[in-house]
Amino acid sequence: MAKTVVVTGASAGLGRAIAHAFASRGDRVAILARGEQGLAGAAEEVRARGGQALVLPCDVADAAEVDAAATQVEAELGPIDVWVNNAMVGSLSRFLEMEAEEFQRITDVTFLGFVNGSRAALKRMVPRDAGVLVQVGSSLAYRGIPLQSAYCGCKHAIQGFTESVRCELLHDGSRVHLTMVQMPALNTPQFSQVRNRMAKHPMPVAPIYEPEVGADAIVWASEHKRREVWVGASTPAVIIGNALVPTAGDHFLATTAFDGQQAELEPDGGPDYLFAPRAEDMGTRGRFSDQARTRSRQLELTKVLPDWAAGMVSAAAGRGLGALQKLLGG
Ligand SMILES: NC(=O)c1ccc[n+]([C@@H]2O[C@H](COP(=O)([O-])OP(=O)(O)OC[C@H]3O[C@@H](n4cnc5c(N)ncnc54)[C@H](OP(=O)(O)O)[C@@H]3O)[C@@H](O)[C@H]2O)c1
Repeated sequence: MAKTVVVTGASAGLGRAIAHAFASRGDRVAILARGEQGLAGAAEEVRARGGQALVLPCDVADAAEVDAAATQVEAELGPIDVWVNNAMVGSLSRFLEMEAEEFQRITDVTFLGFVNGSRAALKRMVPRDAGVLVQVGSSLAYRGIPLQSAYCGCKHAIQGFTESVRCELLHDGSRVHLTMVQMPALNTPQFSQVRNRMAKHPMPVAPIYEPEVGADAIVWASEHKRREVWVGASTPAVIIGNALVPTAGDHFLATTAFDGQQAELEPDGGPDYLFAPRAEDMGTRGRFSDQARTRSRQLELTKVLPDWAAGMVSAAAGRGLGALQKLLGG
């Protein structure tokens, strides 16, 4: 049966691929973002894939705008079944070179935008005792990297925020499901629109996947009772590696992640999208398709594991990690 789905940041990149993926099932998809051109392009593609599109121009940093959008979704499309928090802005810059208002803005959109979306979704889902809230995460929710201090802070904050709210839902016996999908590097237009203070063009840290791989994981996560879904072999490697040897991670990233986040490409030329959207349709994929993977065997394996087995594996892995940490004196 067709569902009512909300996707924030659906005018470009992963959010747009997520809107496509739900539309392909025939869902009613509300697409929230700021840029008119991107929203119009995304809506056309949703309809072309057999979905119903509702365009809602909205700045997710504004709690009242997000709540008003949710009210309009329910009035026009019906009760929200799935809400996907995805919108972001960011910059590639050393922390000490960032202005205070830039750091604040990234946090307002990339962290508080998720909080605003979660509030709007849960205040409607919890009284009905039904619905799924999906947070788009990253391996950087567990591991900070250089030149992305604000973004990494936001992703860590979302991870902690989500755990707190999940515990509250469990305490109250709610059947609303809250899950977080930790993504690998994705080939999206993010790297053409973030603020950049480095000499070269921003790029995702390899291995890079096309956004459709991430979108497939989001749709799947919305239908299964997993606490988290990890996408791409690099994601468990980063999260588990960081839990075991964080200091080695610091030194590895200090050596590799400055160059690893910059490409020898012609500059895009446009302004960054921190405070206002780009005045053009940025599309779904970025500039790195020549090196992006179109499938993840790790995700395929995750999907064939039954939910109960995944829960047992996670619990066992958690206990194993705890025991190992004790053994290492951590
Ligand atoms: N790309 C990666 O390598 C990667 C890796 C791991 C996780 N992720 C996660 O994937 C998600 C999407 O990232 P992406 O790479 O697809 O980014 P992107 O290509 O830059 O797209 C960001 C989206 O957010 C929207 N947006 C920005 N500011 C907004 C605001 N104030 N209010 C509403 N919408 C806003 C943008 O539209 P407008 O400008 O039109 O508003 C756009 O639709 C993020 O949560 C990110 O953390 C990405």
